[in-house]
Amino acid sequence: MAIFRKRKNDALPEELALPVHVGIIMDGNGRWAKKRGLPRKAGHREGAKVFRKITRYCASIGIKYLTVYAFSTENWRRPEDEIGALMGLFKSYLEEALSDFKDDDIVVKFIGDRTGFSPELQALMDDNEEISKDRKGMVLNIAMNYGSRDEIVRAVKNISARVSSGELSQDDITAQTVSDSLYTAGQPDPDLIIRPSGEYRISNFMLWQAAYTEFVIMNKLWPDFKEADMDEAIQIFNQRNRRYGGV
Ligand code: FPP
Repeated sequence: MAIFRKRKNDALPEELALPVHVGIIMDGNGRWAKKRGLPRKAGHREGAKVFRKITRYCASIGIKYLTVYAFSTENWRRPEDEIGALMGLFKSYLEEALSDFKDDDIVVKFIGDRTGFSPELQALMDDNEEISKDRKGMVLNIAMNYGSRDEIVRAVKNISARVSSGELSQDDITAQTVSDSLYTAGQPDPDLIIRPSGEYRISNFMLWQAAYTEFVIMNKLWPDFKEADMDEAIQIFNQRNRRYGGV
C-alpha cells in the first residue's frame, strides 16, 4: 500500500502517495546503442550508470523497496561477448556498491539463482549482502539469473519437501505459504512496475508478486531514463484506482 511521502523533492507535490515497492525492467540498452551505431555493450554500460543514479534517487525520495531486473534466466541465450560485457559490468558495479551504497544506507539483496555466476561474482554478491544487511534504508533487490517461473518451481519444490517431511500439512498451504517461499519472502508485493522502452510484456518478472501491481510503460529507452521519468511514473501511479478485485 502507498504511504505519504516526506517532501524531499520540489518536483513532486507533498501530498503524492509513494509506492512502497517499485520494480523496474531495465529495457532498451541494445536499441539505445544501435541508434548511435555503438555495440550493444555500450548500451549496457550506459544502462548501468542509470541503474546507479535511479537507485540512489529512489532511496532519496523514500521508496522502501526497489527491485531491478538486471539479468534473466533467459539472457544466457545472448552472444558470448555481450554476456561477457554484462558480467564485467556486474563485477565493477558490485565492487563499487560495497562502499558507495553505504552513504545512501541501501540494503543490497540478490534474487535469482546465483550459482549460475562465477565464484568471484558470487562472492561479491555475498559480500554486498553481508556488509549492507544492518542498514536501515531502502532495500534494493537486484534480480540476477532471475526468472519468475524458476522462482515459483523452486517454491513448489520447497513446499512439497516440507509436506513430505511432515513439517507442513497440505491443508495448511495458503497463498502466504507460496509468498514466503519466494526470493522476496518477507517483502511487500510491488505496487508499481515500470518498463521503459515501450514494450508491453512482463518477461518472466515477479509473476506471483505482481498480481495487483500497477504497470507503467514508458516510451523511453533505459539509458535515457531520468529522475524526472521516475517522478512521472509516480504521478501516473497516483492517478490509478487500485481495487484489488473489489469495487
Ligand atoms: C535489457 O535491455 C537489459 C539487460 C538485459 C541488462 C540490464 C543490465 C543493466 C542495466 C546493467 C546494470 C545492472 C547492474 C546490476 C550493474 P536489452 O539489451 O534487452 O535492450 P534491447 O531490448 O533494446 O535489445
